[in-house]
Amino acid sequence: MVKISPSILSADFVNLEEDIRQAESADYLHVDIMDGCFVPNITIGVPVLKSIRKCTGMFLDVHLMIDKPVRLLADFAQAGADLLSVHLEACPPSQIVQCLDLMDQFGVKKGVALRPITSPKAILPYLERLDLVLVMTVEPGFGGQTFLESQLDTIREVRTLIDRYNPACELEVDGGVNQKTAPLAAAAGANVLVAGSAVYGAADIPGAIQALRVN
Ligand code: DX5
Ligand code: ZN
Repeated sequence: MVKISPSILSADFVNLEEDIRQAESADYLHVDIMDGCFVPNITIGVPVLKSIRKCTGMFLDVHLMIDKPVRLLADFAQAGADLLSVHLEACPPSQIVQCLDLMDQFGVKKGVALRPITSPKAILPYLERLDLVLVMTVEPGFGGQTFLESQLDTIREVRTLIDRYNPACELEVDGGVNQKTAPLAAAAGANVLVAGSAVYGAADIPGAIQALRVN
């Protein structure tokens, strides 16, 4: 069964603690960090992540959509992330390696993320040491966008590479996941599904999480 990682980007930030509690039946909690530079939107930063860490024991799956993530990697790790994903487009390869080294140093699980334009092969230099690859199925920056079905090929290619070089690595899909697209992503090889609007836009949040658990 796939794992579900609700994205709090679509939660009510005034009632964030309650919205996190509503998502406790999920496997992970997805936290989107945007800097207004790598993506044209700004969300939350280190102090809010620290507060989230204090109010939940959920596994915090933190998606860094920030330029040159190495600058802030230690801060996000120490704020309580369980897993950090850095975008392969956000810095040169040598800095991706530095980010992964820092994640090891702080005992945080290691992820890399791909924009839709990025070739699946870009993960190869890092794949053997990764815990997760995050494939974007929308352009990163905003919740509530439409799932790009053209990314199903990317998901399949990443699945093939993971099976060959590091079968324990998870394959997470993020963007436009709902009851209709979740089975497509899972059939293409995803085992973790991020969902923002499909979870927090629903009247029954635990029910919406359950409805995404495709076989
Ligand atoms: C978008 C974020 C996503 C977003 C997904 O850049 O990375 O995690 O919250 O939202 P939905 O599920 O509404 O597409
Ligand atoms: Zn995300």
